[in-house]
Amino acid sequence: MASIKSKTTSKLIGEIQVPGDKSISHRALIFGACALGTTTISNLLESEDVFSTLKALQKMGVKITKSQCDWKILGNGLGSLIGNNQTLDLGNSGTGARLLMGLVAGSDLKVTFIGDMSLSKRPMKRIIEPLLETGAQINAESNCLPITIRGSKIPLPIEYYSKLSSAQVKSSVLLSGLTSTGITTYFEPLLSRDHTERMLRYMGAEIKSEETLENIWKITLKGLPNLRNCHFNVPNDPSSAAFPIVAALLIKNSNIVVKNICVNKTRVGFIDTLIEMGGKIKLFNKKENSGEKVADIEVKHSILRGVNIPAERAPSMIDEYPILSIAASFAKGKTTMNGIKDLRNKETDRIREVEDNLNKLGIKTESTDDNLSIEGVGKNLIEGGMEVDSKLDHRIAMSFLCLGLLCKKPIIVKNSETINSSFPNFYDSMTKIGAKLINL
Ligand code: S3P
Repeated sequence: MASIKSKTTSKLIGEIQVPGDKSISHRALIFGACALGTTTISNLLESEDVFSTLKALQKMGVKITKSQCDWKILGNGLGSLIGNNQTLDLGNSGTGARLLMGLVAGSDLKVTFIGDMSLSKRPMKRIIEPLLETGAQINAESNCLPITIRGSKIPLPIEYYSKLSSAQVKSSVLLSGLTSTGITTYFEPLLSRDHTERMLRYMGAEIKSEETLENIWKITLKGLPNLRNCHFNVPNDPSSAAFPIVAALLIKNSNIVVKNICVNKTRVGFIDTLIEMGGKIKLFNKKENSGEKVADIEVKHSILRGVNIPAERAPSMIDEYPILSIAASFAKGKTTMNGIKDLRNKETDRIREVEDNLNKLGIKTESTDDNLSIEGVGKNLIEGGMEVDSKLDHRIAMSFLCLGLLCKKPIIVKNSETINSSFPNFYDSMTKIGAKLINL
């Protein structure tokens, strides 16, 4: 089991390389497998989570290879998956598992999904409920993995009202709707990340999304689209960029640039929040890339103040609350994060892990089931000097390594290899701009 030590850092300076977007990388592989012909992908995130999806697709007969920098997926069109009675191990990846469950539900296949200790505890009822309505047969003893799905060759087009704003649930339902003969309609309370809609539209699917008069979101997909093979140039991941961005805001004399970041508005609620907190963050070189907006981001050391983050912003920054909690810990005054109940269902219960570890460091927090408040110390450095167990949560590991850069005594993060799920070059990228991290 690997550990990383993180020590007081005087400044972060320069351009930092963050990898391709995780959500878009999973989708590029899966949608490429559904198209007819070769889809190519550049800047695919080569991380454990994405490789879990890639290997699962290969097990279902999809030919995927790499030549030079690009990945190639030989798509055989909708309904072309093979390999009955396979067991697919999705490792730590909730996105891989939930999206592929939707794909299998709309295929003529029987597949069992398994995962690691963290993934095996995550709730799957949210996926099982809608997929049962499409006609898939699902065997799950506890609404958790392992789950066996016997897909339906011609799934029913469903109209599904989701209580959650979850891009994984939405994408799973839309994936099963791809092979259905009618129109699949999905409603969600707030718009969750919309990469599935954008990418399927880019490939030629008829897919619409609109806010209804009742102020909920309605997404409609016409089944059996002619999905064109295409080239995806994956933009860099805002959720990975959030770590150096927060670290640079907090560490005196810092000035960094992160390039080519996906700034889709369903993803960058944390940037709005950090700017509200007083963060000096500038977006420049804005452009379009494979249907997504991208930009370079400059960040300078700033004095932050506590803010009240509205619940409506939660879906657009759902993965950034752990690192935002670190920003809040050093801000002046209290930060309250509302409407974040679903953080309890991530790789760990992130509200609990953030609170437990911050409290041990002397930072005061309060929480309910659905929100978290942090009393910022309004100082540049805290005492530190403790061990944090990642519990197989990559974002908890990276958040507390960033916090260690602002401690008088080091923070050691145990089980740090989990960082490979999403940001394999975290250590090298961060040390290059000056972060004092040491592999133990
Ligand atoms: C993701 C959706 C989000 C997010 C996850 C990636 C996706 O999960 O937390 O890291 O790619 O669809 P939920 O759909 O559970 O909110």
